[in-house]
Amino acid sequence: MKMKLALAIIVVACFLSSHIEAALEVGFYRDKCPFAEAIIRDEVTKSFLRDRGIAPGIVRLHFHDCFVRGCDGSVLIDSTPTNQAEKEGPPNGNTLQGLEVIDNAKARIEAACKGVVSCADILSYAARDSISLTAGGYWDVPAGRRDGRISKASETLDIPAPSFNLDQITQSFANKGLTQDEMVALSGAHTIGRAHCSSFTNRLYNFNSTTMQDPKLNPYYAQFLKQQCPRDSQGNVDKNLVVFMNQTPFLMESSYYRNLFQNGGLFTSDQALLDSQETAREAASYAGNSLGWRRDFVQAMIKMSQIQVLTGNEGEIRANCRVINP
Ligand code: HEM
Repeated sequence: MKMKLALAIIVVACFLSSHIEAALEVGFYRDKCPFAEAIIRDEVTKSFLRDRGIAPGIVRLHFHDCFVRGCDGSVLIDSTPTNQAEKEGPPNGNTLQGLEVIDNAKARIEAACKGVVSCADILSYAARDSISLTAGGYWDVPAGRRDGRISKASETLDIPAPSFNLDQITQSFANKGLTQDEMVALSGAHTIGRAHCSSFTNRLYNFNSTTMQDPKLNPYYAQFLKQQCPRDSQGNVDKNLVVFMNQTPFLMESSYYRNLFQNGGLFTSDQALLDSQETAREAASYAGNSLGWRRDFVQAMIKMSQIQVLTGNEGEIRANCRVINP
């Protein structure tokens, strides 16, 4: 009996210690590469001053990285003749922004401390810096992620689609260990950035067999969107056209939630936040309390940025974020 108890204690202790070892850590590079964070911040800030659209682009990159195989930098990998990488997956194809900022930060960091800082961590720091530059808040980034060695376009199915209803987005976040509350808070990231017309024109021109325009879309907003995304004589919309998703595309404040109450959510998945009492209540509270939203948003980002991370000896530290090490 005593032997069994001792064995059980040893097993639990081993589990706990491996678990603690595996956890991410604030200040992970303090001794290993002291200037890493500063270099990343410098690169993000420089790019932001040239093009503010870089900040939302990087935040979305981090979300798309974390939802496919965890936050392992897999979204950064380029396709090869034998592998279609995540970048080619339907939610990503030609819509990602900010990749070169990560490349520039990585190049400078490699010159300062070779083979130490993962691309996954660089992306996580850069997302934090992007949120901070758009006044969304600041947090200490737990780090120590390792880079994955797999990136497949087919796996981007894990990323929720803009046509999703409330059950579908809730399930998609639950699959990654995030609660519905966290999903509502994170959706507010759509305060910043842009969307291609193709992500929502079904709501304007071919909603279903009986209605062309989504009845849940504010008619004035629909009118505006139709002007921004006109159809040509063939009935097609130029696939390069983009619109800002909100009236403050470079500033994190809670107008996203206020717009929902005017039927002004851009995607079906945005407007869907009002489709249950609990989510509508949360959206209403954020609509009136920007500070409260940003606090919850930051907490949810910290959690999202730790989805299925590789740590310790798992994965690798990629030398070039676009290429798996030979
Ligand atoms: C509820 C699920 C979500 C859906 C269905 C969704 C879908 C989309 C779509 C379709 C776009 C437009 C892409 C384009 O056409 O260029 C977009 C943009 C964006 N999304 Fe989401 N998203 C979701 C959640 C999130 C989350 C959780 C974040 C971050 C925490 C996020 C951050 C962004 C940002 C910042 C942009 C603007 C990107 C840019 O300007 O380049 N989204 N999203």
